[in-house]
Amino acid sequence: MILGVNIDHVATLRQARRGIEPDPVMAATLAILGGADGITVHLREDRRHIQDRDLKMLKEFVPVELNLEMAATKEMIGIASKIKPDMVTLVPEKRQELTTEGGLDVKSQKTNIQGAIKKIQNARIPVSLFINPDTDDVEISAEIKADMVEIHTGMYANAKGKKKGIELNRVIKAVKSALNAGLLVNAGHGLNYFNVSKIASIQGLRGLYIGHSIVSRAVLVGMERAVREMKELISRG
Ligand code: PXP
Repeated sequence: MILGVNIDHVATLRQARRGIEPDPVMAATLAILGGADGITVHLREDRRHIQDRDLKMLKEFVPVELNLEMAATKEMIGIASKIKPDMVTLVPEKRQELTTEGGLDVKSQKTNIQGAIKKIQNARIPVSLFINPDTDDVEISAEIKADMVEIHTGMYANAKGKKKGIELNRVIKAVKSALNAGLLVNAGHGLNYFNVSKIASIQGLRGLYIGHSIVSRAVLVGMERAVREMKELISRG
């Protein structure tokens, strides 16, 4: 099973100062050294973290699968067709949200999403749809000829007590129906070091896409070394 590492929050940290560090391109290189099978970035309409420059450089430097998450808009389809990432994941996008909140509304947005899929596939880029763990949404995704789906695991990740099992079963059922429909199937959102195992053991999954928990852990496990290096420079005067 592949691991796609989402590095958006490295760029979030950089944008806090509007400076040049930490550079998501360097983060991608280190993630790949650590075993990442893919790098994911979400180019948002408001450019709150990843910038156009990052995407261009990542396309040049990333030797593994580059997955571009984006909204199904004219602007983003134009950018994807020009840059040609290895795959595009279509996600819903709201300006006010802190992160992608739910899966695509493939029922009411069917025509728009179908049109976007065709245009992106015409540029020879495979398309994945980020959808809720819902069998109707899986069927619509297959009908509108997506290559892949990514099943939203956020509800499972946030559930507590009895609800956790219910949400896990929804994910398992959605994965099964997507496999039966002939789709490649991924999963992601809200996965962390505590909850990933149950999702990773679902048969047939192609890959997992994980961001926040990996970037959060990187900040913590790297702190001691970062301080030690600064102390050394200070003590040398
Ligand atoms: N998959 C999709 C479609 C996403 O939008 C995100 C968040 O950008 C992720 C996976 C990763 O989620 P998290 O940062 O919670 O691991």
